[in-house]
Amino acid sequence: MRKSIWTASLICIVLSGHAVARESPEAMREYEQALELTPNLENGRKVYRICAVCHTPEGWGLESGAYPQVAGQLSTVLIKQLADIRARNRDNPTMLPFTSPSLLGGAQEIADVAAYISQLPMTPRNGVGPGNDLVWGERLYKDNCTECHGELGEGNLEDHTPAIFGQHYRYLLRQFEWIKMERRRNADEKMVKQIHNFSHRDIRAVLDYVSRIKPPSEKLAKEGWRNPDFPNFARPHSLHSGAGYTIDQRPSRPRRP
Ligand code: HEC
Ligand code: HEC
Repeated sequence: MRKSIWTASLICIVLSGHAVARESPEAMREYEQALELTPNLENGRKVYRICAVCHTPEGWGLESGAYPQVAGQLSTVLIKQLADIRARNRDNPTMLPFTSPSLLGGAQEIADVAAYISQLPMTPRNGVGPGNDLVWGERLYKDNCTECHGELGEGNLEDHTPAIFGQHYRYLLRQFEWIKMERRRNADEKMVKQIHNFSHRDIRAVLDYVSRIKPPSEKLAKEGWRNPDFPNFARPHSLHSGAGYTIDQRPSRPRRP
């Protein structure tokens, strides 16, 4: 009897998806393997072809935030997120099938595609917030975020802390809320504590501010830049502007595992 209660509660914890932030040993192994390998940019470009369907050939995602900008992200962050998504340590049902070994490959391909993506220039026109509470947003940022994400939101390569400057506002909002709700399992535990008391207003203000921090000019693409590595890519019209998507059309919320 005792045993079955135990089992039942264990199943509940697993199903509720509200486990505290954690590391997946499987993902960490892949992360460490990928870091030791020498990336092959040319192969990374080949691997990226399949990713371009959602993240666009430029790696800019959509202004609506349905797909994040990945261009210019730190390579260690890209590797960690890919390993986590594949190990189901971060729910991403839209992308999960594309991370299978048959499509993505192993640690070498992860290292290759991460190196390719991280050197892509970032969009000069990311999605931003309403812009009406930026003084408060800046103050919150300086007091709560710089220690890990850096003064400008540039992230930290050694700690695989994401660069967040110039990211689409709606994507930042969704991730931040999921981290706060402990829905994103691979979240940083200290960050979860740090943002515990953030109100609705605080969240919007700080992320609006972050979305408007301009990455340094050497990381930004020129207006109108198109990735020359994918000259024949068939672009749906909506991918050009991002305007064809609204927040309601974002991929459905992940179901709990
Ligand atoms: C079918 C669409 C789709 C494809 C194909 C796809 N992705 Fe994604 N990807 C997404 C979505 C949607 C998200 C954001 C999920 C969320 O909001 O939690 C994402 C998130 C990511 C992230 C996390 C970004 C961050 O800032 O944490 C990385 C890295 C990434 N994708 C890389 C890739 C790579 C590399 C490929 C190709 C091997 C790829 N994706 C293929 C849809 C896709
Ligand atoms: C103690 C360090 C720490 C603090 C403080 C912190 N973060 Fe984070 N944050 C992280 C780490 C590490 C990750 C990535 C976790 C992972 O998935 O591996 C992250 C992830 C994020 C993401 C998701 C990024 C993406 O590309 O998916 C956002 C958005 C974010 N943080 C915003 C903030 C903001 C805004 C603040 C301040 C209010 C903040 N963080 C404070 C460490 C921190």
